[in-house]
This record gives sequence, C-alpha cells and structure tokens, in this order.
Amino acid sequence: MIPPKPEPRPDKVSLRQYVKLFQKDLLSAQPQRLYRAWMAEFRTPFFRSYMINQPSLVQAVLKERPDDFPKSQRVSEGLKPLLGESVFLTNGETWKRQRRIIDPAFEGGRLRDTFPAMWAAGQAAIARLDRFDGQVVEIEEETSHAAADVIFRTLFSIPIEHEVAGRVFEEFRTYQRSAPIVNLGAFFPLPRWFPRFFRKDTKRTAVSIRKLITQLTAERMAAIASGTAPDDLATKIMTTVDPESGKSFDANEMVDQVAIFFLAGHETSASALAWALYLCALYPEWQEKISQEATELSEDFASISKQRTCRDVFREALRLYPPVPMMVRENTCPENFRDRDISVGSQIVISAWHLHRQERLWDNPDGFDPTRWQTENGKTCARDAYIPFSAGSRVCTGAGFAMVEGVLMLSMILKHFKVTPVGDPPVPIAHLTVRSRDGINLRLERRK
Ligand code: HEM
Repeated sequence: MIPPKPEPRPDKVSLRQYVKLFQKDLLSAQPQRLYRAWMAEFRTPFFRSYMINQPSLVQAVLKERPDDFPKSQRVSEGLKPLLGESVFLTNGETWKRQRRIIDPAFEGGRLRDTFPAMWAAGQAAIARLDRFDGQVVEIEEETSHAAADVIFRTLFSIPIEHEVAGRVFEEFRTYQRSAPIVNLGAFFPLPRWFPRFFRKDTKRTAVSIRKLITQLTAERMAAIASGTAPDDLATKIMTTVDPESGKSFDANEMVDQVAIFFLAGHETSASALAWALYLCALYPEWQEKISQEATELSEDFASISKQRTCRDVFREALRLYPPVPMMVRENTCPENFRDRDISVGSQIVISAWHLHRQERLWDNPDGFDPTRWQTENGKTCARDAYIPFSAGSRVCTGAGFAMVEGVLMLSMILKHFKVTPVGDPPVPIAHLTVRSRDGINLRLERRK
C-alpha cells in the first residue's frame, strides 16, 4: 500500500488542456515521466521553462551560483499585495541585508529560548482537540490553528486567542481563498505589458492584514523604546542592527517581514503536520512507536532531540508531501544544462515534489518508510535529493524552528490521542502549499 499520490496526466496534451489542468492543480498537471526525468522542457509560444530534477543541476542553482538564479519575479506577483518587500520576494543586496538581520533570531541558541512558547502552543492544541474525543475531525483546520498559534506566541508572545492575532488568522484565510495560484504565473508568464488583475477581495484582505500587523509592530516599537518589550523573536529582529549598513528595519520593512513569517511559518508547518498525522493514522505501528517514545518528552528542550522515531516520521512526511512543492528561479546568464542551451530569462523550476520521488535515485520512492534515513540509499538521497526547506544561501530561515515545532507537535498530539483514517484517502493538490483537496478527516480518541 502506498500513501496517496495524485493521478498523473496523460503524456500528451494540448497547451490549452495543460493550462486548464494547471489551473486545477499543479501536481496532477504533470505526466508520470517527470518522476524519472533529469530535466524537462516546457515550450509555450512566449517563453520556455525547465524543470530540473537532477541533483547536480539543483545544486548548481541553489548552492553553487544562487546569485545567477534569483527568484522569479513572475512568481512573486501573486504575493506582492500581502508581502511587499519581504525577504521571501526580494533579491540581490536588499535580500542579503534582510537576511543579515533576520538570521540571528533563528540561530540554535534562540531556538531553546523559543521552546517554552512552542510547548504552550502544543498544550493549547491538545486542549482544543480534546473536545473532539471519539469524533471525526478535519485535521488541516486544526493544524492551521495550531501553527498560527505557534507563530504568534514565538514572534509576539501572544496566543491566537488575542484579538489581533485571531483577526490576522481569519483574514488570512480569506486572502488565501481569493489569491491567484502563485505558481501559475511562473509557468505561463503573461507578457510584461499585460495588466495584472487581483480580485478585489485579495487586495482588500491584504490591506486589512497589513493594518493589523502594523498595529502589532507599532505597539512593539513603543514597548522596546520604553524598555518593557518581552524577549521574543519580534524584539530580537527589531533590535538587530545590520553589521554592514549599521541600520535596523524601519517600521514598514518590519511589517513586510512579519507578514512573511506568518505566511511562510504557518501554512507550511500546518500542511506538514496534517500529512504527518495522516501517515501515522495510515501506519498505526509507527503511531504506536511515536506515542511510546513521547513518554520521555518534557518541557526540557533537550528532550526533543530524543524523539528520534518521531523525527524520522516527520522527515518522511516532508519527503512525500513537501509543503512547498516547487520553487521557481530565473537565469540571468546564458546556461547550458544537459546539452541544452537555456536563454537568459527562462524559468527554472525546482520541484521538491518530483526530486523527493525521483525514481532513479530513491529506493521505494512512493512508499512510506521512515527507516530509510538509516540506510545508505536514504543517507545519500538526504544529502543530494531532499530539499523540503530548499538549500544554499536562500534556505528557509525557519528550517530549524520548523523541525523542532513539527516533531514537538506530532509527539504531543500522539502522546494524547490515537488517530485513525476515515473515508476516502485524501487527494494531495498544490495551492500555496501541498494540501488535501477535500481536507483530511481523522478520528481522534484520547489515549488512556
Ligand atoms: C515545515 C515547515 C516549513 C517548510 C517546509 C518551509 C519551506 C521553505 C522553503 C522551501 C523555502 C524556500 C522557498 C523558495 O526559495 O522559493 C522557505 C523560505 C522561507 N521560509 Fe520556510 N518553511 C517552513 C517553515 C518556516 C517557518 C516556521 C518560518 C519562520 C518562522 C519560515 C520562514 C521562511 C522565510 C522567511 C523564507 C524566505 C527565505 C529567503 O528567501 O531568504 N519557514 N521555506
């Protein structure tokens, strides 16, 4: 039995059909052969895009020459109204300066300081889930709530019940429903002169979310000035001075960064945790192992590194359902990949989804096997073909944070509840992140 994988499309389809499939879902719009290909070229009347699925090419783009492959501005368009000049979208010197200010907040030592806030969010999640004892629950909804809670508690020392936090969370859901699928523009860029339409409510919700975040950051700036600010991620980021320019973030720039922390840090973690819980429901022997292991879990930060089985399962969930399924870059110099000339300005697509299931690299690519990380093949692939957080200088800022959060939440939930799958298997589809088309339904039972 393999865990759910989207039906690939037939090998040959017209461009019109492809666009239609694409609008529905990024994953099922691709043919089966991409899981074996080292590279694939997509030709359209306006431009070319290349999906690279070979470790040495991915390495070149992400690790060896990232400056030659900046983020594709076409992809950014869908997120601009909300994220402005956030670190997720910028390139070049601006991006480098932003990372110099943000990165220290996520260093190892800071993670330890953040742990009590994550623990509190875990306890709050258990308390919320408790009301579903013996019932069926749509778990993505619950993991979204939990992940948003983690972000607000660690960033601003406020729980999701806080009025402003709750409103950001609600408005964000509306934004997501109205925002165009961001990746679409990357494969099918419109000519530059074509006007960009955002649905009315996309702009409205973006403005409203930014207003709420502005309120939070303004209050925090005042608290920092009066010496009453809590020692959390927001304070750390807002008081860090870039060693090169001697400047810190101004209020506007901080709003952009908070918006991306909220977006990148809650959608992704929610998706990963929901799929991990589903996999545990599907493979109860693993669920039991995690639950056993979790008896050693405590508020002591060191106990998280002892949750080895849980970490292997969570890593396997990130392999099979990478929350960020594809990333898009643009080449600024002429390139030659696999004997093909790639003209400047082409779209280079790196698909974690396909690389994580590359049939020529992984043993049992579509199977769920958390023991793989201890095998030779698993170790080699972990190094060369596993990029849930991307790689190189533009790697996810929150990677370490997300691994602690994911393992902690999974262990805490499975220590308290037994989960079983209900109804039809979920169908993975890619929107902003990899989600299930109709949600993920699980039965929850409190453990004795
Ligand atoms: C399981 C959870 C997560 C996954 C799978 C994930 C994955 C990723 C990936 C793949 C990227 C690169 C995107 C690209 O280059 O196009 C990224 C970037 C980023 N992530 Fe995460 N992320 C997770 C959680 C978080 C958390 C918790 C935070 C912050 C609290 C965060 C903050 C960011 C930021 C700021 C960037 C932009 C970095 C840059 O472009 O320099 N992420 N993430």
